[in-house]
Amino acid sequence: MIKSKTIRILSRKPSYDILIGENLLKKKTNELQLTFTQKKIAIITDKKVNNCQYSNLLDQLRGLKINSHLFLIEPGESSKSWHNLKAVLDWLTELNFDRTDYIIAFGGGVVGDLVSLAANLFRRGINLIQIPTTLLSQVDSSVGGKTAINSGAAKNSIGTFYHPRAVYCDISFLSTLSERDFLSGYAEVFKMALVFDKDFYKFLIENQKLTRARDKKVLMYIIEKSLDLKSKVVEVDETEKEERALLNFGHTFGHALESYFDYSQKLLHGEAVSLGMVLAACFSCQEGYIHQSKVGDIKKHLATMKLPTAITQIDNHKLNVGKILSFIKQDKKVVGNNINLILLKDIGTGFIKRNVSFEKLENYLKVQLD
Ligand SMILES: NC(=O)c1ccc[n+]([C@@H]2O[C@H](COP(=O)([O-])OP(=O)(O)OC[C@H]3O[C@@H](n4cnc5c(N)ncnc54)[C@H](O)[C@@H]3O)[C@@H](O)[C@H]2O)c1
Repeated sequence: MIKSKTIRILSRKPSYDILIGENLLKKKTNELQLTFTQKKIAIITDKKVNNCQYSNLLDQLRGLKINSHLFLIEPGESSKSWHNLKAVLDWLTELNFDRTDYIIAFGGGVVGDLVSLAANLFRRGINLIQIPTTLLSQVDSSVGGKTAINSGAAKNSIGTFYHPRAVYCDISFLSTLSERDFLSGYAEVFKMALVFDKDFYKFLIENQKLTRARDKKVLMYIIEKSLDLKSKVVEVDETEKEERALLNFGHTFGHALESYFDYSQKLLHGEAVSLGMVLAACFSCQEGYIHQSKVGDIKKHLATMKLPTAITQIDNHKLNVGKILSFIKQDKKVVGNNINLILLKDIGTGFIKRNVSFEKLENYLKVQLD
């Protein structure tokens, strides 16, 4: 039997728990009943999660007396939009929710980012519970309080910090995730290891087959370890003034590529992060930090996990470097004509390289993407 784990996020008042386990909600019925009695509950999810996992959720909640309402959005990155934000807020208004009621974000990072922003804005903050259903959202996006929608081509450019009351990372929800979506989420797990923890990196290399087979014990460990690493950073730097920026390793390039491909299914978020991590690791090597052989090891592991390591695997056409640079200029780490990049000194040791000029970056990208 899988033993449940709890990680407490202490930075918030009130602090909140992240629970990790299997069939967690069923095990927490009594607590949930206390929380939800005389409250309205809004469950917001996407249509794919609704088809694959809503019955599992209802099954786990069976026996609870709750007054719930369901709102569905389309699956995919383009749902992190002004349109959906307004639709959710209008719907909550029509149902006359008050701020003591609860919103449940039931889905992947897209649902989580959009719904947590809506929760923050609705009546200046309504109770939020995250029930993440993808590997990516269980190891990363459901924790730390970042909310977001994309505005035009600018990824995550509209957002706030708003923390949930609780996060339930239930591995039973991962059973229906496609291999591509599962491995896309794995990119964020590998990122945590590359930036923070060499031993975790070794574990991931040694357990790559079991991870791909979604072995429950390995899944529990990588979720717990990733959340532990993330929660420590979030606790000391909640609003990303310093260390928290390390979590952006691979994301400056990755977000620009996602925008370049219009947030389409051609390149999923985690796949963009995979390409971005390769670009950032190669740049670290070019600048004399990490050794080339280690960059080779990183690429080899990503390839084993079926993640892209070269842009030609996504698109054979020559990319427009100027256009990619224009997306990079939307990044939150831009300062004037420079950008702060997250690089690697070694495997397990990320750092912030300040004030890299756009000119240098453009020359680098021309060589890499040509
Ligand atoms: N807030 C943060 O700190 C943070 C951190 C990392 C990433 N993100 C954001 O997270 C998003 C990516 O998250 P994601 O990878 O979860 O994408 P996603 O939410 O689009 O989910 C991926 C796909 O899996 C489907 N799906 C979800 N759960 C499923 C299940 N249990 N079974 C079958 N299919 C299921 C979805 O319908 C979707 O098609 C990006 O927008 C990214 O910017 C946010």
